Amino acid sequence: MIMKDDRRLLPHKRDGLQFLKTKTAYVIFILLSYAFGYFSAYYNRQPPQQPPPSTAEVRTVKTTKPQDCSIDNFRVTTRCGDPVPPERIRRTVIDRIFNGTSPYSEFPPPHAAKLLRRKRIKGWGSYGAVFENLIRRVKPKTIVEIGSFLGASAIHMANLTRRLGLEETQILCVDDFRGWPGFRDRFKDVALVNGDVLLMYQFMQNVVSSEFSGSILPVPFSTGSALEKMCEWGVTADLVEIDAGHDFNSAWADINRAVRILRPGGVIFGHDYFTAADNRGVRRAVNLFAEINRLKVKTDGQHWVIDSVSPSKLT
Ligand SMILES: *[C@@H]1O[C@H](CO)[C@@H](O)[C@H](O)[C@H]1NC(C)=O
Ligand SMILES: *[C@@H]1O[C@H](CO)[C@@H](O)[C@H](O)[C@H]1NC(C)=O
Repeated sequence: MIMKDDRRLLPHKRDGLQFLKTKTAYVIFILLSYAFGYFSAYYNRQPPQQPPPSTAEVRTVKTTKPQDCSIDNFRVTTRCGDPVPPERIRRTVIDRIFNGTSPYSEFPPPHAAKLLRRKRIKGWGSYGAVFENLIRRVKPKTIVEIGSFLGASAIHMANLTRRLGLEETQILCVDDFRGWPGFRDRFKDVALVNGDVLLMYQFMQNVVSSEFSGSILPVPFSTGSALEKMCEWGVTADLVEIDAGHDFNSAWADINRAVRILRPGGVIFGHDYFTAADNRGVRRAVNLFAEINRLKVKTDGQHWVIDSVSPSKLT
């Protein structure tokens, strides 16, 4: 899922005029989408019942007409389960994902111990001022990070919460811990065992070496499936950081799913607002999300920040 290598190759450039142009384009795009959505909804109140296709023949499936392609078709509208109180979040995740046993118990397993480095941390923008600014302001009890890689920013946030006296804060790190195709070209020292890269173990080793295993838990699944389940289980967060796939579709899906698990008034933020990857995919996704929901995007360094999101008020 994560494509952090893109950002190494492309300049982080801020272009005020370009930003204005895209913003205007979004407003026009959204107005048109709503207009089309309204008219198509009007004409399609009663969709005709289609008989199920028989197995013996191939039929052409009737898909929507181009003008039916309103923005409603690609939004996430899940309703989440009743929120679990913050002090029960860690236990809930351990029970649901790890069958009741902390993943750090008896870590590392003997077969992996000799393949791990004591501390192998590498991140991008992991020490930006935005982390301290937001943690001081929000005083989060639960932080969810989408895209953790080797844990640099999660460990930095754990360090900050401890220094700021937020001893109870839990940080849940959603990542499939696969890196991205070809990431070992630049991380040859992360072991590969029968095709399995030991990224989650190295992430956990980094957490253990930094003495934060009491406040950081991995959630080792793809962002989509993990966020959907967290929502269903009522695992909510005060602060959500998005730093996984930097293409529009990944960023769009991650933001729309992640925002559902925010507590009312929570803050969502993410890295690489200015990256050129996928024709500024992150920025397009963030801006479109903000336009639709009439929210304001702020920036802090290379990060984007959206304050005071109330999931129940989302369009
Ligand atoms: C889950 O843990 C219980 C003990 O708490 C154990 O009996 C059971 O076998 C475990 N299940 C799996 C799938 O590991
Ligand atoms: C935590 O922060 C302090 C102060 O900035 C720093 O000296 C220390 O190395 C950090 N520890 C970790 C494990 O990141």
